[in-house]
Amino acid sequence: MKKILLATGGGDCPGLNAVIRAIVKSAKIHGGYEVYGSIEAFKGVLSEPTEIVKLSRKKVAGIHVLGGTIIKTTNKGNPLAYPVQQPDGTWKSVDITDNLTKRIQDLGFEAVVNIGGDGSQKISQALFERGLNIIGVPKTIDNDLSATDLTFGFTTAVQIATDSLDKLVTTAASHHRVMVMEVMGRDAGWIALHTSIAGGAEICLIPEIPYDINKVLKTINKRYKKGEGFVNIVIAEGAKPAEGSIVGQKSKDVGEEHIKLGGIANYLKQQIEESGCLAQVRTTILGHVQRGGTPVAFDRILATAMGVKAFEMIANGEYGKMVTYRNNGISNVSLAEAVSAYNFLSKEHYLVRTARAIGISFGD
Ligand code: F6P
Repeated sequence: MKKILLATGGGDCPGLNAVIRAIVKSAKIHGGYEVYGSIEAFKGVLSEPTEIVKLSRKKVAGIHVLGGTIIKTTNKGNPLAYPVQQPDGTWKSVDITDNLTKRIQDLGFEAVVNIGGDGSQKISQALFERGLNIIGVPKTIDNDLSATDLTFGFTTAVQIATDSLDKLVTTAASHHRVMVMEVMGRDAGWIALHTSIAGGAEICLIPEIPYDINKVLKTINKRYKKGEGFVNIVIAEGAKPAEGSIVGQKSKDVGEEHIKLGGIANYLKQQIEESGCLAQVRTTILGHVQRGGTPVAFDRILATAMGVKAFEMIANGEYGKMVTYRNNGISNVSLAEAVSAYNFLSKEHYLVRTARAIGISFGD
């Protein structure tokens, strides 16, 4: 029996369990393979004793409908910059990818499937370069990986955000208020843009288009003058004013590399109020509800197709690649290509143009 190791890394996202189930089921039907999961990304492999679970057909039965990941995840402990405590109590980042590769090989794993976002796939590439038979499966609700048209979890996040905006629109209208809803989107505004179009926001603020507060105010005032009297704004957590910076805090957790974003909605509220705008402003920061719960049908299907493809690649010995969804089909690209560019929204993107054509302002 050949052994496959699965790891889920970075922030979780609806659809991870559907990928795990698809790999286990395909492997079982193909025969000759056993599938294992490393708990909390590669922490399970590095722990002493190891935390690795066997993933049987029974263990994964029905999990495609569940959010989260049954093998847990973490955004701490990147093996390229692993935090190691020094004798004086301070922490030093050390590249432990050589050790990790050896450890996985010594444990007898033939192949590894690393399910994760941009950061995780950079780790996959490094491990591949050190000789590990590894395949990447893309995951992020932010949809910010350039090699794939879509990532599972994104559509679920957009649905959750749209359902929330639908609720805010009715209360905005009743109270003649400006509602500011902050959604996830660290570097890319895909969730904000899709939600704005689906939910009918008047203003959409995204990281790729720094906003001019005067333009935002102009749109708000125009709405009130027309007597329509309410405004819905969707703002990505990574959006920033043209004259200013993102709102976030450095994480205090050891090994946690990202700045914790969140709060730009409150900053925008302050800007609107300080301008003398008489409308009442309320903010909603959706946060992690966008990443939780049941994946929508599309994400279950996409995740299943990606899991099946990952197993097919293992059976064919195609390593050093990431599964992709492009032009309504599943294929793959080299990990090197997958991590070479980011999936930013451009001002020319058809959905940015669609939004502008129906009067949505980007504050530019
Ligand atoms: O990358 C996905 C994401 O959901 C971002 O949109 C967000 O900034 C981040 O993860 C939040 O991470 P955490 O769960 O560590 O707070």
